[in-house]
Amino acid sequence: MADASESLTVTDNRTGQTYELPIEEGAIRASALRLIKLNDEDPGLLSYDPGYIATASCRSAITFIDGERGILRYRGYPIEELAEHSSFLEVAYLLVSGELPNDQELALWVDEIKHHTLVHENIRKFVDGFHHDAHPMGILISTVAALSTFYPDAKDIDDAAKRRLQIVRMTAKSATLAALAFRHAMGFPYVYPDNDLSYTGNFLSMMFKMAELKLKPEPALERGLDVLFMLHADHEQNCSTSAMRQVGSSRPDPYSAAAAAVAALYGPLHGGANEQVLRMLTEIARPENVAGYVARAKDGKRRLMGFGHRVYRSYDPRGRVARQVADDVFKVTGINPLLETALELERVALSDDYFLSRQLYPNVDFYTGMIYQAMGFPVDMFPVLFAIGRMPGWLAQWEENLLDEEQKINRPRQLWVGHGIRHYVPMGHRAPYAGTRLALQAASAAPPRPGR
Ligand code: CMC
Repeated sequence: MADASESLTVTDNRTGQTYELPIEEGAIRASALRLIKLNDEDPGLLSYDPGYIATASCRSAITFIDGERGILRYRGYPIEELAEHSSFLEVAYLLVSGELPNDQELALWVDEIKHHTLVHENIRKFVDGFHHDAHPMGILISTVAALSTFYPDAKDIDDAAKRRLQIVRMTAKSATLAALAFRHAMGFPYVYPDNDLSYTGNFLSMMFKMAELKLKPEPALERGLDVLFMLHADHEQNCSTSAMRQVGSSRPDPYSAAAAAVAALYGPLHGGANEQVLRMLTEIARPENVAGYVARAKDGKRRLMGFGHRVYRSYDPRGRVARQVADDVFKVTGINPLLETALELERVALSDDYFLSRQLYPNVDFYTGMIYQAMGFPVDMFPVLFAIGRMPGWLAQWEENLLDEEQKINRPRQLWVGHGIRHYVPMGHRAPYAGTRLALQAASAAPPRPGR
């Protein structure tokens, strides 16, 4: 019997029966609902929660968010403090190991990462096979998945040392894969890693080095990008992290699970939003066009990209840090001409009851796109930059899930809303076509995309 003050009493009005469900850590166990039945044949009650609005899928000790108060902490450390004092690789260590490293641990970790930045030459050749205008996120999804074929030892997920090796490999190689995707699209020769540089400095070198012997990254840009990687490093049970855990729950190698996470991140409602913010600001073009655009967003005809968040109901703490990064970066690069339009959009939206009443505030992606653009990254690369930053978070969450004895293969239930039994109808006895067949015809009649 649960402590009455830590329980929920439920009366099933269909039967008049009363049940007491324990409350632990602010939650009831959905499986407790299975005890609530009409009769012995009834499998018991389910909870229905599309989009997981009120469902905790795991217990986690990695990232804490308080969406009402705008708090984000990695392993207890506030994001603002990490962004000010730490580095991306130190934060990656914190996420995957649970503690901040001492100086020896950090030196060893950085050294390990640097020794795994190269990718097999066949990965390079694989990237050559993509069309010149292939989206770099498509290339990243594919190359992360392809890594699984190069490291068959990664299947041994019960071996802690092998798990750690894959964590190092993936943290190191995601930046290399990202740069390969960019250089391929530009038709530039690939640049091999430069171990004299920091993680982020090396990434900038692999992206932008041309004929010079060595690229010396501009310190303000190197630091700015490093901070943005930290801001993106984890964000508890978001869509891509849930994909990582979900796929990981059937126990494949982590590369296969990470490919699913990158794919989930690609969508415009998640990591693809930074790209969409830039496209939106470019479309709005001038501050005087903002009011008309906002009016259309209120009609439900389009969304203001970079606004709103499932968890943050006041401000996104990452947004504040990103604004500071923008100031630092723009001092070197000059102000992004879209900034004026963005500030006007923010001002108009934040004085409009539609956005205030729905608690829609600028999120991190509202600012990052303008910074990335000022740094010289093409718009297509924005979600790829998010993916590089998020990789340590995905890996930490993947391992936490594997080691959690309560976790099982993820297998949600459904509410059946389809037909009852129907018997097979022979061809010639079927009704003239329905919508689906019509849709298929339309698809096959669509002209091929030019150049394909
Ligand atoms: N512009 C206009 N209206 C919006 C927006 C927006 N950006 N976001 C939500 N709404 C409205 C929505 O139409 C709905 O209105 P109503 O109650 O009248 O139907 C209400 O606000 C609630 O929206 P929802 O879709 O139920 O909210 P959600 O929690 O499911 O969605 C979200 C969260 C982030 C997907 C959504 O706010 C959105 O699409 N934002 C734009 C995309 C974006 O910036 N994504 C990046 C998120 S931060 C980076 C990351 O961590 O992924």
